[in-house]
Parts: sequence; structure tokens; C-alpha cells
Amino acid sequence: MEIGVYTGYSLLSTALALPEDGKILALDINRENYEIGLPIIEKAGVAHKIDFREGPALPLLDQMVDDVNFHGSFDFVFVDANKDNYLNYHKRLIDLVKVGGVIGYNNTLWNGSLVAPAYAPLRKYVRYYRDFVLELNKALAADPRVEICQLPVGDGITLCRRIS
Ligand SMILES: C[S@@+](CC[C@H](N)C(=O)[O-])C[C@H]1O[C@@H](n2cnc3c(N)ncnc32)[C@H](O)[C@@H]1O
Repeated sequence: MEIGVYTGYSLLSTALALPEDGKILALDINRENYEIGLPIIEKAGVAHKIDFREGPALPLLDQMVDDVNFHGSFDFVFVDANKDNYLNYHKRLIDLVKVGGVIGYNNTLWNGSLVAPAYAPLRKYVRYYRDFVLELNKALAADPRVEICQLPVGDGITLCRRIS
């Protein structure tokens, strides 16, 4: 599953890495941006692996959590959307990813702002989301259901392997 597709850069990478019969559920509130990148996904021959759904991710995750058939049904989830909901996503994704499966949260270094002093000048959106990312990082570190590893590449990606 991917939450936050935009024009499909990470989606294409995942689709290329999957076997021929692999499937990705791709969620984004904006289909127009997905359609900008879709010709490239088609040219790469992987469009058949993607099930794109337009709309906010949280209600769809709630629907899946309500259906036990979806529990433990995902091998990998990449989360790269609105940071103010990451913790809400995690609360649901932990049921949907299988034991041994991985959830990746992008931007967990959040522009380096997490270690900035309170008086540091930060761009408005960086300051707004900062506390949500801090809260997520603390919750993941304390969550006994996952083993985590934060990769200091780009803006930071935290990989969480579900262990129970
Ligand atoms: C940083 S971009 C994703 C970039 C993409 N993963 C890539 O590699 O190019 C964030 C995306 O999250 C989407 N988004 C924001 N809020 C969302 C929500 N509540 N549910 C689903 N997608 C959302 C935005 O529309 C935007 O396309």
C-alpha cells in the first residue's frame, strides 16, 4: 500500500520492484497529479499492478480495519502524505500489515527541525507539522509491536517491522 502518491515517483519504484502478480493499493486525495505520471507508469509496463483510489486515506483504512479479511494482508506500506495523520495511520496500519511486514514513514527527520531550538526560524508548514512528527517518532520508539530503524537518507525514513 502507498499513502500519498502525488505524481507517482515512489509508486513507480515500488511497482517496478514487485513481481508480475504483485499489487499496490495507492491512496491519494488528488487523482489529477497521479494522472500526470500515469503515462510513465504505463510505459514502464507496471500499471496493472496499481489500484489507485482517490480520497482521504483515513476513512478507507477504517473500512479495511473493520473487515478482518484485510488484517495482516499487506507486506509493505509506504506512508508519504499528511504528517498530522501519521500516528492515526499507524494505529490502523499495524492491524493491516502482516507480522514480519514493514511500514515505512517518510520525512521522520522533518527538515532537521526536530532538533532545532524553540526560537529557531522555521518555515510555517515545517513548524506546523513538527510536533506531529515528534509525537510519531516517540510513539514508534515506544511501540512494542514493531522494531524500528530510522534511515538518515533524504528527509529520514523510519522503517517499522511488525513483530507481534
Ligand atoms: C509528498 S507527496 C507524495 C510524494 C510521493 N510519494 C512521491 O514519491 O512523489 C504527498 C501526497 O499526499 C497526498 N495527501 C495529502 N493528504 C492526504 C490524505 N489525507 N489522504 C491521502 N493522501 C493525502 C497529497 O495529495 C500529495 O499528493
